[in-house]
Amino acid sequence: MITWNAEKQFFHLHNQQVSYVLSLAHGRYLIHSYWGKHISTFSQADDYPKLDRSSFSPTPAGWPDRTFSLDTVLQEYPGHGAGDYREPAFEVRYEDGSQVSNLHYISHHIVAGKPPLDGLPATWVETPHAAETLRVTLEDPLTHLQVELSYTVFRDLPVITRSARITNGGKTPLRLLRALSCSVDFPDSDFEQIQFPGAWARERQLHRQILNPGITVLDSKRGASSTHQQPFIGLVRPETTEMQGEAWGLHLVYSGNFTARTEVDAFQQTRVLLGINPHGFGWALQPDASFQTPEAVLAWSDNGLNGLSHALHTLYRDNLVRGEHRHKVRPVLANNWESTYFDFNEEKLLRFADNAKVLGAELLMLDDGWFGERNDDTSSLGDWFVNRQKFPNGLRPLIDKVHQQGMQFGLWFEPEMISRRSELFARHPDWVLHAGQQPLSEGRNQYILDLGRPEVRDNILQQMSHFLDEHPIDYIKWDMNRNMTEVGSATAPAGQQQETAHRYILGLYALLEALTKRFPHILFECCAGGGGRFDPGMLFYMPQAWVSDNTDAASRVHIQYSTSMMYPPVTQCAHVSEVPNHQMGRSTSMVMRGAVAMSGNYGLMLDLMRSDSERDDAVRQQIAFYKQHRQLIQFGTFWRLVSPWENTDFAAWMFVSEDQQHALMMAFSLVSIASAPLRIVRLAGLDPAARYQLDDGPQSIGGDELMFRGIFIDPPLSRDYISRTWHLTRLP
Ligand code: DGJ
Repeated sequence: MITWNAEKQFFHLHNQQVSYVLSLAHGRYLIHSYWGKHISTFSQADDYPKLDRSSFSPTPAGWPDRTFSLDTVLQEYPGHGAGDYREPAFEVRYEDGSQVSNLHYISHHIVAGKPPLDGLPATWVETPHAAETLRVTLEDPLTHLQVELSYTVFRDLPVITRSARITNGGKTPLRLLRALSCSVDFPDSDFEQIQFPGAWARERQLHRQILNPGITVLDSKRGASSTHQQPFIGLVRPETTEMQGEAWGLHLVYSGNFTARTEVDAFQQTRVLLGINPHGFGWALQPDASFQTPEAVLAWSDNGLNGLSHALHTLYRDNLVRGEHRHKVRPVLANNWESTYFDFNEEKLLRFADNAKVLGAELLMLDDGWFGERNDDTSSLGDWFVNRQKFPNGLRPLIDKVHQQGMQFGLWFEPEMISRRSELFARHPDWVLHAGQQPLSEGRNQYILDLGRPEVRDNILQQMSHFLDEHPIDYIKWDMNRNMTEVGSATAPAGQQQETAHRYILGLYALLEALTKRFPHILFECCAGGGGRFDPGMLFYMPQAWVSDNTDAASRVHIQYSTSMMYPPVTQCAHVSEVPNHQMGRSTSMVMRGAVAMSGNYGLMLDLMRSDSERDDAVRQQIAFYKQHRQLIQFGTFWRLVSPWENTDFAAWMFVSEDQQHALMMAFSLVSIASAPLRIVRLAGLDPAARYQLDDGPQSIGGDELMFRGIFIDPPLSRDYISRTWHLTRLP
């Protein structure tokens, strides 16, 4: 999978699908040569045009001719201050104040498999046979700064992963100002860019734009990957669609501040960079100390955006998520939040559980408000013991009764936070992130614990472990409801204050690692005021995430469509809720709410204290249907067919089982149109040579006909917010 051509001095990382080539210019500079479709024998690694542009694109010191410049050539991990004026991948300030680095190739080695990253989440492989890793060491001959670049190629996926480890090999301390995970240079700029801007309850809004000259920055400075952006950047050719054309996607396995940048340079070459946001970041490196960057996933496809998604879905399902739930179907849960908010007690919840059970739910998920003295959002975060006012006999009787009913029990925690009104705050006011004497900004009446400090995370680990040892909990919804301000740590020296945000994320990962190891049977759901930290870093610890606090089915069609660009359905939690919807005030049909919720991990956020036989009949049927098909939905291949981002009125997607025996197609009417045009939808992912039966339709239809010609949506979906689902079975 990885070959080193010693004569021509290049590395070729490849499998049957993808090639990635990096080479050495003059035995010294690490140059990018190619990333794209698999090439069997690569030969042009040293063909970068030799043009004299030396007036404004300088040649390296002592260079024999004027035709080579770091300012123009395509590079793998560009630095700053020695002739390349484009955005650097790293920046260092040495003790003497100089910020100039010159990295030269020193050595490389190739290992089978994929070694883990120290303290950071990363993709992994089950056997050494499944991947190969190249490590290239670069060093500045003057300062002895060392950079070890890691590249892994997977045997069966069009994916390369990258990361960098930066070591101070000199004799004096230095300061890292920027340490990105990767930089990739393309020789042209004929791209469109894909990104996912958003906000609370409006996460991941698919946006495609022409790549402009100069620098475009997508980022988060919020201390979390955030609802406002996704640590992802996509590049596609202008002609690329969902079904065809080339697409490149770079995704950061990290949950904190990030930057994803493109720079189109003076010669219309494109540099893409991804990593921890340099804004507010600094890291002191003593001699011999190292800094490990997070991992960047580089996926490529020439089967359009669906192809790119399939690569990421498979990678995340098989090589990122860990633990016993990885390949298990996920339970149908009933969450009490929109039904009770903070107003509940044991009796109410038992009634809620009874009703949920009758409908077919398999897990009662008790949301916010069960601990400390919490009756609203003004108190008790940090006090992880039972609220005795709501549960005079503790939580155990409720948990036991739910278990006796044959249901599992889930519980909400927000472990990273602390309320001013809490016992924990009274004891440890300095445990919150804060910057000296600066007053603390408010966010939902809560502050953030300084998880970079071992004693702080140990306290939370102990409280939670103690609680979980005494309460048989099957599921945890791990929430996080505000972003960082006044970022600083009470115990860090002045020169290390800028490490706080990253140390926080490392602390969070350490806490999650300890907890998930200690309680491996618990299924974790990642939540952050909705989908505010839906990122690959969190998926490493928690196999599923709450997509959005917006439970309106029409909004969810857009959000889930976009989310599926990176994440498989089995990672997306989606619930059926009441109408008018609590966030949008909109009423959508039960059928559409069901179809949208069952396009991920189906759950209920209905008011089950209210009796409504018509609603309950519909839900019972939905759950029965979902259970019959959830293996296909959660672990089949997901195809986006018609985009709600390109059609105001209509969207469609489908699921195909791995063996192509079964498929489900869903179509959604968003806004009905009078005298509407006919809708014919072309299916995808079927076996073209097989025949399929559509529900109880009059005849079977060939897979080729379904995919190349398509089916009419007949009768048309001629009302707002309705949907239809087709089940396809392959005939023997
Ligand atoms: C935000 C979550 O996204 C909601 O589902 C709910 O758990 C609330 N927090 C509880 O405070």
